[in-house]
Amino acid sequence: MPQSPSQEKPSVANRVSPARLATSLFASSFATRGAVNARPAVAASAPGRVNLIGEHTDYNGGPVLPVALDRRTAIAARVTDRWAFASGTEDEVHEVDIDAPMRQAWSDYLVGVIRELRVLRAAPPGAEMAVATNLPIGAGLSSSAALTVAAAKALSLLAGKRLSAAALAEVAFRAEHYQVGVRCGRMDQTIAAHGLRGSALLFETGASTIHPVPFPVRLWIMETGVSHRLTGGALNDRRRECEEALAFCREWRPGLNYLAQLSVRDLPEVERRLPPPLVPRARHVITETARTRRAADALRAGDLPALGRLLVEGHESLRSDYESTIPEADLLVRSAVHHGAYGARLTGAGWGGAVVVLAPAEREARIVAEIGTDFEKCYQRLPVTWSTRASGGVRRETIAN
Ligand code: GLA
Repeated sequence: MPQSPSQEKPSVANRVSPARLATSLFASSFATRGAVNARPAVAASAPGRVNLIGEHTDYNGGPVLPVALDRRTAIAARVTDRWAFASGTEDEVHEVDIDAPMRQAWSDYLVGVIRELRVLRAAPPGAEMAVATNLPIGAGLSSSAALTVAAAKALSLLAGKRLSAAALAEVAFRAEHYQVGVRCGRMDQTIAAHGLRGSALLFETGASTIHPVPFPVRLWIMETGVSHRLTGGALNDRRRECEEALAFCREWRPGLNYLAQLSVRDLPEVERRLPPPLVPRARHVITETARTRRAADALRAGDLPALGRLLVEGHESLRSDYESTIPEADLLVRSAVHHGAYGARLTGAGWGGAVVVLAPAEREARIVAEIGTDFEKCYQRLPVTWSTRASGGVRRETIAN
């Protein structure tokens, strides 16, 4: 019998809502001399995400199938004549010059949002902002999109503008892509803005359409404990390889807009024509596109075993063709299958991060405990493990007294 599930111990950060934490952090960080408490004028929050399947397809015009997590990042803010940021992880308040070069710090994401909101005339003249989260950072669960989408919402409200979910997602995408310089696709910001309680979203990035797919079950997240750093370049490298592959494919398919427009039937031709190092990258995108649409069909039909098999196939494609997995994640997925989960796969960009596990409800706690034990035998530590259900997207928060 394995030890009790290796679930994360409830910390203060996980018990208190991020919106409350942001509000009290605001009160202590921005209290003026003599005043007991500073009060924010607005608060907003946005969720992280777990991608069920559709990895590295969003910047290739393909489909993705993410779920918004029930963990969020919240921002409490008020207008002032300066830009100052406080976060729960640092002692000091940072005063920031929005037009100065980026500092290679988390606050660059906020600077990026402010610059993009200015373009839309939807930024206040300055603001004091406190940020709190119960999302793990660098675990492949889109803490950056939760931050940028929540910031876009809070700051545009401060400026008296009500931006749509689509507009908030676009501001956040542009902040990360063009200002911070991570050449991400649009999946993370889209789910953080449009997330729906009880549903996954099938987002067809080529057509820009979003279809909710009911997702009533619990998902388990097992963190590898290996942090990934997107700005470090692996994602940008893969993106460049995909662009090169697309350029080659266009020599025989001049009208092709995206790699994901190719179908599994085109694979023999792709394998013949592309330079060998690009073949597996293109093969992943093409097969993952097909898998993701089949996964949405399986989910609509309530066929969780079929969905689980597709997750495992997707992980194998990431491991062998996209080369974005790590041994810790491979072990978690193998162990999940061995212990009777429907399926599991590395979620998010990769090169670290977390594995998502889908298991039969009546045995899920036991299964994740057994996976944790296997992991511990190999790495002498338990993976941080927790569960989530599909939650809602960005929202304004009421400010507690
Ligand atoms: C990161 C990016 C996303 C997507 C995934 C891989 O999370 O931000 O846009 O490309 O990697 O699927």
